[in-house]
Order: sequence, then structure tokens, then C-alpha cells
Amino acid sequence: MDTDNLDIVLSKQLFGDDFAWGVSTAALQIEGSCDADGKSPSIWDTFSARKGKILNGDKPATACDFYNRYEQDIDLVKELNIPNFRFSIAWSRILPDGTGRVNQAGIDHYNQVINYCLKQGIEPWITLYHWDLPQVLEDKGGWTNREIVSWFSDFVTVCAKNFGDRVKYWMVMNEPAVFTGAGYFLGIHAPGRMGLRNFLPAIHHVVLSIVAGARILRELVPDAQIGNTFSCSHIEPYADKPKHINAAKRADALINRLFIEPILGLGYPTEEVTALKGIYKYHQPGDEDNISFDFDFIGIQNYTREIVKYSFFTPYIGASLVKAEKRNVELTDMKWEVYPPAIYHILKKFNAYPQIKKLIITENGAAFPDEVVNNKIEDTKRVKYLQTHLQQVLKARQEGCKVDGYFVWTLTDNFEWAEGYHPRFGLVHVDFETQQRIIKSSGHWYANLLK
Ligand code: NOJ
Repeated sequence: MDTDNLDIVLSKQLFGDDFAWGVSTAALQIEGSCDADGKSPSIWDTFSARKGKILNGDKPATACDFYNRYEQDIDLVKELNIPNFRFSIAWSRILPDGTGRVNQAGIDHYNQVINYCLKQGIEPWITLYHWDLPQVLEDKGGWTNREIVSWFSDFVTVCAKNFGDRVKYWMVMNEPAVFTGAGYFLGIHAPGRMGLRNFLPAIHHVVLSIVAGARILRELVPDAQIGNTFSCSHIEPYADKPKHINAAKRADALINRLFIEPILGLGYPTEEVTALKGIYKYHQPGDEDNISFDFDFIGIQNYTREIVKYSFFTPYIGASLVKAEKRNVELTDMKWEVYPPAIYHILKKFNAYPQIKKLIITENGAAFPDEVVNNKIEDTKRVKYLQTHLQQVLKARQEGCKVDGYFVWTLTDNFEWAEGYHPRFGLVHVDFETQQRIIKSSGHWYANLLK
């Protein structure tokens, strides 16, 4: 039975000693210093310079200035008792030309971040690709160009060789369905491309690249724990009628299954969404051997559920999402429904794939309009959101789901892609004028849980 208020008093011990607690971030969203020390522009630097693409015209050029303040922010991770810190590597800092020439200043920077984590007793978890493709590569077609498999392999090789002696936890890519769907089909994220002719090749080249990247890590970092993260939403049909139930199945194929299933060796979910059959146009002989990988863990990123309705007018999929705003439910600042059982259902769903060895919640969290009063932020809604979601994670774990970790999104308020700086997801408040940080009640709550 669904209930979003479970009667469980949370404690770290209930999750067991091996459970990985953490906090997640991404380079573009926090670093700033977008052209420092030899870095070239990423697609988000160019996309955000285009009029009307980012809410309020916000730009990631400064963000939280993590590039310069990483020591202070890693100190905060420590102060919050968080043992694992997830961050990503900006490809265009390491390889300003996309491939080839290595920028030593970029390598030095990430070495400093990694070394500082280790010095503070914090385990670094690296995401290799969190959406900030070098613009020079987008100019050559980006993810639509099959050559990207070798460009990406270069990048992974450089990272593995330089950081693999100290970093044991790796995620190859973050949320492939979101950056291909929003960036190459809907055009609402960088690089702003649209349509199936961009989306379908991007999907296939991303899958080939994830697998190529994972194999390189396996070879170069023998003791690595290798994962990839996936966006997932619990999906329910609008009503108990075959047309809505079938629409929900199609949406599920697109939102939840599109990337994980080929990677698990199950192929693309083309039965449900026939337009995906076009992916085979981009297949080359032998690709079937290069689209799956035996990951050590699968990162689950869940924030909400979606209600799906049959829609005659939505091309390719015949389904549409019923906006949470129209459903009279509690909303976050992203206009996403607050629905804690979603994470439980998603864990059960992914747990049912026998090929998956281990699940880790690599992101969960919420944006709310925080108010600073007397230098304090009493973000009770965020505390409740995190508590109720963790209760659901615990319930799934106690029922035998192989979920072995939980990372909050995110450490500090930051640049939320096309939504700019408006949605605040942090455990720590950031004043973007002064760069002053204040730990929110949610940060204190998490620190207390992890004590
Ligand atoms: C998913 C993405 O990985 C992250 O970059 C984003 O900020 C959060 N979800 C919240 O939308």
C-alpha cells in the first residue's frame, strides 16, 4: 500500500555499516571560472549566451565559484559529516580542444580537489560526463557524430590515467535520457538541437560511449567501482483504461528504460516506442557487442512521479504528462510533485533486473524557496522531503532491495541548467552576490543523521 508518511524513525544504523552516504554536485553547476587556466567553452557556456535560453538570462560563468573555493566547500562536506563527495570533471578544462592536447592546469585543479577530499577523509566519487560537452566537439556534430565515441574515450583515458590511482568510484555519464532528450530532441537544454534526426543518433552514440568509457576504466583502474547514473520517474497511468495504461508504458520506455536496457544487454525498448527503431539506422556491424557492460553499480536519480495520459497529438509517443500543477498536489520549486513513494517504486522496479548488482541513489533532493532570516534558513520542507524519501529507501532496503547508498542533490545552491539560479536545491545556502555560505536546517539535519 502507498503511504508517504511511514512510521520509521531514521537513524544511520538502520541502513547498515556498508551503506554509502553522500552528496552530489556537477562541474558546470558549481565551478564557475568558465574560461580560467586554459579551459575552453562548453556547450552550456555558449547555450547560456543565447537569448531566452536560460531563465532570467542567468549564466554559469561564476556559479558558486567552487573552482576557487573548493577547500571551503569540501570543509563543509566534512562539517556535515558526509563521507562521500560526488563531483564531475569538466571535459573542456582537461582537453580544451576536445581531444589531443592535455591542459595540465585542468589536471592540476582536479588533483587538488581529489587530494583535498582525501586529506579531509572524504571519498571522491567522479562523474566523467555531466552534460558539459566541449563546444569545439559540438561544432563537429557533438553526440550526433559517431566519432564522439573515440573523442570520449580519449577523455576517459586521460582521467583514468591521472586520477585512477586515488579515485575508486566512477560514474561514466549522468542521466543520458535527460541530456539527449532535452538537448538533442526538445532543444531546451544545450546544445539546443531538436528532432529525431538528432535524438536517435545521439542515443546510440551515447550508449556506445558509456560502454567504451566503462571498459577503459575497467582496464586502467583495476580496483575501480564503475557505475553510470540514470534519471527515473515512477510512472502511473492517468486512469485505469487501456489507452492510458498503454500510454504510461510508452512513457516508461522512453523515460526509464531507454538507456538502462541496452546497457544491461536487453536492447532498446523499440516494441513500446516504434519511432526508436530508427536508432538501427545508426548501427554498424558489431555494435551489438559494444552496447552493454557489467556495471558494479547503477546510480538511480529520482525526484518525483509522473502521471501519464493518452495523447493523440503528441508525435511518436502518443502520451503526455499531466502537469503536477494541475493535480492539486504538493509541489517543489521545479513544479515537481512531492511524492516519496516514487523512490520506493523505482527501487523495486530497478531491483527486478537480475543483471543489476547494486543500486545507489546518486541523487535525490528538492528545490524550495528558502528564506534567510537572521542568518538562518529553516527549510522545513526540504528536511521533510529528505526524511520521507529516506524512509522509503529504507523500506525498500528492508524488503531486500539491493540499494547500498544515498546521495543528496546537492551541497550548495547552484546553477540549475535552463532554470538558472532560481531553484535552490542545496543543503547549504549561497548568496550569489557575496558567495557567502550558510548551512540550512536541512544541512544540520543531515549532519546529525550522519554523526
Ligand atoms: C539531475 C541532474 O543530474 C542535476 O544536474 C540536476 O541539477 C538535478 N537533477 C536537479 O534537477
